[in-house]
Amino acid sequence: MTKKYFIIGNPVEHSLSPKIHNFWFKQNNIDATYEKKEISESELPEVVKDIRDDKIYGINVTVPFKQKIIPFLDKLSDLAKKTESVNTVYKIDNQVVGDNTDVYGFKMSLINQNIELKDKIAFIIGAGGVVPSIITALKDLSIKKIFLTNRTFSKIEKLKIKHPELQLLKWGEITNFDIVINATSVGLNFEDKIDINFKNLKDHKIFYDTIYNPPMTNFLSEAKLGGHNFLNGKLMLIYQAQKAFQNWNNLLPNLDKQFFDFIKDD
Ligand code: ATR
Repeated sequence: MTKKYFIIGNPVEHSLSPKIHNFWFKQNNIDATYEKKEISESELPEVVKDIRDDKIYGINVTVPFKQKIIPFLDKLSDLAKKTESVNTVYKIDNQVVGDNTDVYGFKMSLINQNIELKDKIAFIIGAGGVVPSIITALKDLSIKKIFLTNRTFSKIEKLKIKHPELQLLKWGEITNFDIVINATSVGLNFEDKIDINFKNLKDHKIFYDTIYNPPMTNFLSEAKLGGHNFLNGKLMLIYQAQKAFQNWNNLLPNLDKQFFDFIKDD
């Protein structure tokens, strides 16, 4: 029987995940479909029940449900517990389990680009769903210091309770850093601009945007103009998908030329 997979979120219409997973299903001769499902919060229990009843084989979870889905699951992986963020759900031994593959996605995107962050300084902008995963990944990569800012300060104060080593900055303040990561939703609309001034930075920095659509946000365009290195969120998306696919199918899909050619314009 054809296995059914979904990405659930709201909004979810721009997600590239169906294209990626359906490509890999075909490449590996797996009889499965992967579709988008825009849901409201009240539908979360139903979706989880469909997994429990084997009507759905697995789901990815995106904004704004990565934390909200947790109470409905039977079990969490260690990383999902640590980050309180679930992006991949499936059944193991009759239990509906939530896992987090965003940490892997973020780490692997850096490794893919030969970006070494050991003993470096990171500056994260935002406090949304993906931030705990980024913090966890940066710590795993032996970062020296993490600065964090957010428009709403109280949200980063909450994150500091769990990660006391974080250094909090007021909105608009900047600091010396090696890598700055936009983890806000500012940039999803082409004209969006983060109101933090990154002009007059010394040396080459790395600007990382977790947004992949549009591929060149204002944040990244300014980095390019300033002569800095820059990377959007597409590789993170690809690697989190790769790990989710491995969890579901026991098979790590190839990131070969054919694959990158297939998604290069998305
Ligand atoms: P969620 O919080 O549901 O996970 P998200 O899209 O992952 O949603 O996160 C939204 C992030 O973008 C937040 O850090 C938010 O800042 P606030 O906590 O102050 O709301 C940030 N954000 C959204 N619009 C913004 C704007 N116009 N300027 C600055 N930050 C913004």
